[in-house]
Amino acid sequence: MTYGEIFKNAAEILSERGIESPEYDIRCMMQRCFGIGRSSFFQLKNEIADEQQKDVFFLSVKKRAQGYPLQYILGNWSFMDCELSVGEGVLIPRDDTEVCVRECITMIENAGIKSPVIIDLCSGSGAIAISVAKKLPGANVTALEFSEKAFGYLCRNIELNKLGNVSPVNGDIYEYFKNYADGYFDVIISNPPYIRTDEIPTLQKEVLFEPEMALDGGSDGLDFYRCIADKWLSKLKKGGIMSLEIGEDQGESVPDIFRSKGCGNITVVKDIQNLDRAVTLYLN
Ligand SMILES: C[S@@+](CC[C@H](N)C(=O)[O-])C[C@H]1O[C@@H](n2cnc3c(N)ncnc32)[C@H](O)[C@@H]1O
Repeated sequence: MTYGEIFKNAAEILSERGIESPEYDIRCMMQRCFGIGRSSFFQLKNEIADEQQKDVFFLSVKKRAQGYPLQYILGNWSFMDCELSVGEGVLIPRDDTEVCVRECITMIENAGIKSPVIIDLCSGSGAIAISVAKKLPGANVTALEFSEKAFGYLCRNIELNKLGNVSPVNGDIYEYFKNYADGYFDVIISNPPYIRTDEIPTLQKEVLFEPEMALDGGSDGLDFYRCIADKWLSKLKKGGIMSLEIGEDQGESVPDIFRSKGCGNITVVKDIQNLDRAVTLYLN
């Protein structure tokens, strides 16, 4: 079978199964399996592919056709300027998360904090912790994650990105706050699980391959924000910065949680689709 025929065949399989961007997915999988990028494809499309490699490729296509995430098939994904290893057991980093990261970095720079002590709660692959640590080499970042599988990816990604200023911690957000004195951190950042439990079965089929623990924010989706407000807010210094990703329908409920703890200076930040995507505050 030629590479051109493989492409056509795979595109038909994915299209029939309603996969959203079949051509993009196939190009990524061809790059991974055969080492063929977009430009070399046009030169090589009439060449015959290695039989064994072709079989491996079509196994991936079949998985993808069942909704298995492209990112898990590829085994890596990029977030901001960082390449991250991903696979079953860890949430795939989303572009949406850039909103809370960029906002946080701007707030730190505007506050003139040169060596911020930062904690990323619910760190998953380390997307947030690693991108913040890369942008702010003077920062000292702790990345807290409870899931053992996700923690494995977190440690690998810190190594992959060769960062000496991120410390991974395998701990529970509901317990680990006890290890820090009040006022210890300059910055708390987090993209916690925030989907309502009853909404999870209705999500896009790709998402259902991701760990439920990374999604489930409890019956109203707000459990983790309450935990951060109850247990972690006091760990922030006066004048400290908090930046949290939120669901698009949480632009009122999440600020209310922090207002009830006496916080002012709360801002809701929108994403490029004009949806509420992050809540930030300076601790007064
Ligand atoms: C929405 S994901 C975010 C992952 C990553 N920060 C990102 O933005 O891609 C939430 C993460 O919280 C972790 N998590 C769930 N319950 C936790 C707990 N009790 N303590 C710490 N982490 C927890 C999940 O395993 C998952 O990695």
